[in-house]
Amino acid sequence: MNELSVNHLLGIKHLNINDLNLIFKTADHFKEVINRSIKKVPSLRDITIANLFFENSTRTKLSFELAEKRLSADVINFSSSQSSVKKGETLIDTVNNILSMKVDMVVLRHPNPGAAELLATNVDATIINAGDGANEHPTQALLDSYSMREKLGDLKNKNILIVGDISHSRVALSNIYALQLQGANVMVCGPKTLIPKYLHKLGVLVEHDFLKALKWCNVVNMLRLQNERMTDSFFPSVREYVQQYGLTSDILNSLDKDIYIMHPGPINRGVEISSDVADSKNSIILDQVENGVAIRMSIIYLLAQKKPLNK
Ligand code: CP
Repeated sequence: MNELSVNHLLGIKHLNINDLNLIFKTADHFKEVINRSIKKVPSLRDITIANLFFENSTRTKLSFELAEKRLSADVINFSSSQSSVKKGETLIDTVNNILSMKVDMVVLRHPNPGAAELLATNVDATIINAGDGANEHPTQALLDSYSMREKLGDLKNKNILIVGDISHSRVALSNIYALQLQGANVMVCGPKTLIPKYLHKLGVLVEHDFLKALKWCNVVNMLRLQNERMTDSFFPSVREYVQQYGLTSDILNSLDKDIYIMHPGPINRGVEISSDVADSKNSIILDQVENGVAIRMSIIYLLAQKKPLNK
């Protein structure tokens, strides 16, 4: 297999295991490239990519832009706060106007679930979902799996724990799909109010006791409370949340084993993770960010092979 089964990257749920293996193998090559003194390849000299961010981002936005530039693509950036979207233009009209400037590929972050899918079915460009509401964040899940594989090898039968605000997290859902494709065992942990009732139907283990869950896992992926997506109060106070689900060195020291610690960022030090744990030797949080560039180069490169250029 040297070609993806999809023409867009809308979510991990549309990929198969051959896609994942191809993405990881291609990312290995690009990781080697970006560690050379000359970090750029001419692969996508003829491609123009628009990064459309309708929601705040640090890691994903910069990582996509760097990945595109390392591949020698032309890049334009769009931020909704300074655009004519504020004057009532629809998403499809906005994107069709951008595409008329001979753009080939669109990277979209949007607060509404399904926004990337809407574009893929209504405009003539390759679409990459950079996070759509609480639906999916496929490149985050791919870079997370890639980072775990660097530490653990094949993820088959490995125990991966995702902790925190599962209900409002696109990272959790994309990680669940990606990990299950690779044969990993997935457990989620958090307050009952932040774990959707349908989750067991996905074949995911659910545990509310944080210590029990930590004893089970090889890797823990800590999630932020997604306050921007909460319309209600889901636990009595942040202090009580921290007491029950905050990852601290005390709780880690009480385990008789080492586990790898992950977080997609942005981290809230002192809430879901203590500062010393975030910076500890078992934390691979910055490895995740580093791997994000190679993974995004891989996705852009592979999708660009699938569509004739917009001449
Ligand atoms: N992990 C992640 O999506 O971070 P940003 O919101 O900073 O892009």
